Amino acid sequence: MTPVLERSRLTKLLQIEEQLFHKNHPKSYELYQRARKSLHGGVPMLWMIRWAGSFPVFVKEAKGAHFTDVDGNEYIDLCLGDTGAMTGHSPTATVQAINEQIQKGITLMLPYEDAIWVGEELQRRFGLPYWQFAITATDANRFALRMARMLTGRPKILVFNYCYHGSVDETFIVLDEEGTPMSRPNNMGPQVNPQYTTKVIEFNDIAALETALSARDVAAVLAEPVMTNIGIIHPNPGYHDALREITRKHGTYLIIDETHTICASPGGYTASFSLQPDFLTIGKPIAGGVPAAVYGFTEEVSQRFAEKLNVDDADVGGIGGTLAGNALSIAAMKATLQHVLTQDFYDKAIQLQERFTEGVESVIKEFDLPWIVKRLGNRSEYWFRPKPPKNGGEAFAAIDHELDRYMHLFMLNRGILMTPFHNMALISPEITQESVNYHTKVFREAIVSLFG
Ligand SMILES: Cc1ncc(COP(=O)(O)O)c(C=O)c1O
Repeated sequence: MTPVLERSRLTKLLQIEEQLFHKNHPKSYELYQRARKSLHGGVPMLWMIRWAGSFPVFVKEAKGAHFTDVDGNEYIDLCLGDTGAMTGHSPTATVQAINEQIQKGITLMLPYEDAIWVGEELQRRFGLPYWQFAITATDANRFALRMARMLTGRPKILVFNYCYHGSVDETFIVLDEEGTPMSRPNNMGPQVNPQYTTKVIEFNDIAALETALSARDVAAVLAEPVMTNIGIIHPNPGYHDALREITRKHGTYLIIDETHTICASPGGYTASFSLQPDFLTIGKPIAGGVPAAVYGFTEEVSQRFAEKLNVDDADVGGIGGTLAGNALSIAAMKATLQHVLTQDFYDKAIQLQERFTEGVESVIKEFDLPWIVKRLGNRSEYWFRPKPPKNGGEAFAAIDHELDRYMHLFMLNRGILMTPFHNMALISPEITQESVNYHTKVFREAIVSLFG
C-alpha cells in the first residue's frame, strides 16, 4: 500500500533536525550573527539564505567532492556550487594554471594566445565556429539575446515555463493556472513587465511553439535542451527536431543554454544529440569554478553581426564586459577543458551517478513511495510525484517545500550537502562508491523516519 505522509509528523521531525543543526554548528551560527551586521541577510549573495538550516553553514575549506565547515563537520558535496564546481573543488590542473597565470597578468583587455586554444576547443566540442567570452552564464545569455534581437530586428524572446537562465530580466515570466503569462512571483524590480518582452509556453508543447512563433515577432528561443532548474525534464522524442524546424521556419534564432546540461557529456546535450543551435551559451563549470562563460554562434550569425557592428561604438553597445576574456579565466578554462572535463571525467562521474540513482530508486521501491528519480549524465533529482513531469508547470505543482527542507536538513546533519532549491545531486568523479552507498543509507533512514 502506498504510504501516506503525515504532515504533523513531518513538522515535528523538521524541528528535531533544526535543533540538531543548531547544536552541531555553533561557530557557523556565531559567524552568521556577525555577518548580519555588515552583509544584508548575513550572506554575501541573496540565494545563500535559501539553505535548509535557519542559518548558512560557513565553509573552512573544500577539495574534490568534499568540504569542511568552520565547526569541523565534514561533508560529501552533492551540490558542487550548484554546478560551478562540477569538476570537483579546486581541480589540480586548474589550480596549477591559475597559479602560473596569476604571476603573468590577470586582466589587460588584450588577448593572450591561450584564448585561441579555448576557441578551437569549443568549436571541437560544440560544433559552432565562432566564440566570445563573458564572466557569467547570465551575461552569455544576455549577449546572445541582444545579438538575436539586433540581427532579426524583432523585439521578443520566447522561454519555457519555469525555466531558469540566470538573472536575465526577460526570462522571469511564468504561466498562471489559466495559462496566462505573468511576471514570475517575487520578480524583484523588473524594469518592464516581462509580458512586454517575452512569450512563455510549456516545454514539450509543439503546437504552442508553432502558434507563438507564427507571429514572426520572436527574435530567439532561449532553451535548456533538458530543463534542469525545475527538476529534470527530458524532451519528448522528436521535440528537439520540431523545435529546430519551427524556429527555422519562422526566422527565429535558437539559443541552447548548456550551463547545466554540460553534465551530459564533454560537448553537452548538443553534442550527444547532434542539436543544431544558432547560439550556444555556457558558464559555471567551464573554468573549474573561476568566473567564466562563453557563447558561440554560427557562420551566418557571425557575418551578419560583423556587417551591423559599428566598431567605434563597440564598447558601449551593451555587449562585452571589461573583465570578460581576462587572462586568468582563460587560463583556468584552458586547463579545465584540457585536463579536467575530459571523457574520462564523464565516464567515471556518470557511472557513479547511475549507482546513486539506483540507490535512491531501490529505497523508493522498497517503501512503495509515489516518488521518482530522473537522471541526466552525472546529475539526478528525485521528485515527490509518481510520474516524470512533462513540463515546468507540472513540475512546479509537485513542489513540497516542507518535505524538501526536511530531506535537505536530514542529509546536511549527516554530512551530505544536496543542491538547494530542489533535491538535486551532482556527482564529481572524486566521490567514492562508499560515499554513494552512504547516501543511499542516509536516504533510507530519512524515509524510515517519515514512513517507517
Ligand atoms: C541553465 C542556466 N543558465 C544560466 C545560469 C546562470 O548562471 P550564472 O548565475 O552563473 O550567471 C544558470 C544558473 O543557475 C542556469 O542554471
